[in-house]
Amino acid sequence: MPQLCAALGPLESQKEDRTLPLELRRNTPGALARREASSAFASAEPVLRKYTPDHVEGPGADTDPTQAVFPGCACTTAPCLPGTCSCLRWQENYDDHLRLRGIGAEADHAVPVFECNIMCQCSDRCRNRVVQRGLQFHLQVFQTDLKGWGLRTLEFIPKGRFVCEYAGEILGSSEAQRRIHLQTIHDSNYILAVREHVSQGQVLATFVDPTHTGNVGRFLNHSCAPNLLMVPVRIDSMVPKLALFAAKDILPGEELCYDYSGRFLNRSDGEDKDGLDNGKLRKPCYCGAKSCTAFLPYDSSLYCPG
Ligand SMILES: C[S@@+](CC[C@H](N)C(=O)[O-])C[C@H]1O[C@@H](n2cnc3c(N)ncnc32)[C@H](O)[C@@H]1O
Ligand SMILES: [Zn+2]
Ligand SMILES: [Zn+2]
Ligand SMILES: [Zn+2]
Repeated sequence: MPQLCAALGPLESQKEDRTLPLELRRNTPGALARREASSAFASAEPVLRKYTPDHVEGPGADTDPTQAVFPGCACTTAPCLPGTCSCLRWQENYDDHLRLRGIGAEADHAVPVFECNIMCQCSDRCRNRVVQRGLQFHLQVFQTDLKGWGLRTLEFIPKGRFVCEYAGEILGSSEAQRRIHLQTIHDSNYILAVREHVSQGQVLATFVDPTHTGNVGRFLNHSCAPNLLMVPVRIDSMVPKLALFAAKDILPGEELCYDYSGRFLNRSDGEDKDGLDNGKLRKPCYCGAKSCTAFLPYDSSLYCPG
């Protein structure tokens, strides 16, 4: 659980920063840390009404994301390894340094990631438990020049390390569409649709909305040249954790961003670049990357019912 700290970090003394006194340090176990996080975020209203480190069930969700449904592995003496561990069906997910294997190689991330879970016989020190350990780096919410709030790291993050989740209310698709339709171009959009292409053309769709109830991931802005990669990771539930990993080494003070189109994960589906979609004006992108496509990615399926 993230521990929130109101102490100002060194970067906050810089003049151009209008920084919330909102910092997240590495996890400390226990309910106290969770309560501290909740109350500190609540006091930061209207930015985020309710802090949750994990997904919560929202209207229309097919599955309660807090319910544990997976059986565990039986690895009591040997370490969890592919071939013997039932949680590692394809390959090892992480290396000895808690880094996601093959990060950035798109083919590798089509492979689903299942971590060991509450039912497993292995210990808490098992190498197949990374996202469930929570925040490991000191992060800070800050005010950007053009994009509203953003999130940055105050310490070095090596490529492949887990940074944070994108957690919020899990919605059904109709509710996600209903909420999207209530938004105007002036509103920040936090609703995220993740589609995983599984066997025989089947698609698993997950809709997350951290607008009112969410975690620090909601402050992540989009970049056309991102330093984070979002990977669905399953622990106890079929509802995936939307885990963000460092796609490259990230220096202290760098803003953390991912590509809202999921382009790292899926191939681009040839979006247009004329600034309009379904007649709706698209938002300009201020990511500042050389490869910037000028507009924020747009998920047309969320705007067209059916
Ligand atoms: C998930 S929120 C990110 C946090 C948001 N900046 C805030 O203040 O809470 C997404 C919204 O942030 C803004 N945003 C994110 N990335 C941006 C970018 N590259 N350029 C312009 N605006 C961006 C847009 O308003 C977008 O709808
Ligand atoms: Zn195991
Ligand atoms: Zn296991
Ligand atoms: Zn851009």
